[in-house]
Amino acid sequence: MRGIVLAGGSGTRLQPATAAVSKQLLPVYDKPMVYYPLSVLLLAAIRDVLLISTPADLPLFERLLGDGSAFGIDLCYAEQAEPRGLAEAFLIGRQFLGGEPACLVLGDNIFHGHQLSTTLQAEVAALAPEAGARHGCTLFGYTVADPQRYGVAELDSDGTITSIEEKPASPRSRLAVTGVYMYDGTAPERAATLKPSARHELEITDLNLTYVAEGRARLVRFGRGMAWLDTGTHDSLLEAATYVQVLEHRQGEQIACLEEIAFRQGWLSVDELARMAAAMGSSGYGDHLRRLAAAPPPVA
Ligand code: TTP
Repeated sequence: MRGIVLAGGSGTRLQPATAAVSKQLLPVYDKPMVYYPLSVLLLAAIRDVLLISTPADLPLFERLLGDGSAFGIDLCYAEQAEPRGLAEAFLIGRQFLGGEPACLVLGDNIFHGHQLSTTLQAEVAALAPEAGARHGCTLFGYTVADPQRYGVAELDSDGTITSIEEKPASPRSRLAVTGVYMYDGTAPERAATLKPSARHELEITDLNLTYVAEGRARLVRFGRGMAWLDTGTHDSLLEAATYVQVLEHRQGEQIACLEEIAFRQGWLSVDELARMAAAMGSSGYGDHLRRLAAAPPPVA
């Protein structure tokens, strides 16, 4: 499976913080926001990644993340000229995907918690062509207090999605569709058939509904032990930063430390990790990498 991080958009709700720079480059506590969605792909063991952003921001992402070798992946870049919707990622990424299954993660979404990696890897495996799955897309649901702000899914008894309502006034459940999506190899050709919505965007919900209509959209729930945070407003950004700060202080661990994940996946050697740590300077992130390189745990 290949990964796409969608890190464009206009960030209007975060103005003027986003007047000169993409919101996905703003810090969430101690690291740039884009580290968090990238960590999701790394935890899913996805190593071929395309990052999509605006023409103005793309060079900054390249300066920050390079070719991905610092954290064991192949990272390439593509422009989205205008924010024409999430599903446009599959038109922009069509060649990159080359008919392979895809995992799309939104650049402003944070996922953290127990069993995240195991859950993601199981769903990646289930969508591999050789697995012969009946479903063609996997969405991840999360119970929220304010489902009116999201796409809300309804399921039958075996977890197949029967409907998705976008921002419903009277939601039929509190199960929101989160910002990580997995698809079989047909997502680009489906995206090519979509028409822009009233807000002139190619909607991810419309792409998802093509699978729902065939009875081939599966929903996997993230439980209460998981955190799903979005960071699109000043308040949610601050709340996410506080969440990261509290856990990192309490545990003495790092959330979304890309080099650590790559090392634990066996993609970086101890020597490479030590080199990354040295380049990180005297930050808490650098200290964490240095500790890890000095006393590496057995690789799982
Ligand atoms: P949104 O938060 O829906 O939109 P936005 O980032 O433009 O912000 P605002 O609503 O404040 O104007 O976007 C969700 C994620 O998807 C975010 O990480 C930005 C990204 N995105 C794109 O990369 N391209 C797009 O066309 C859109 C709509 C969003």
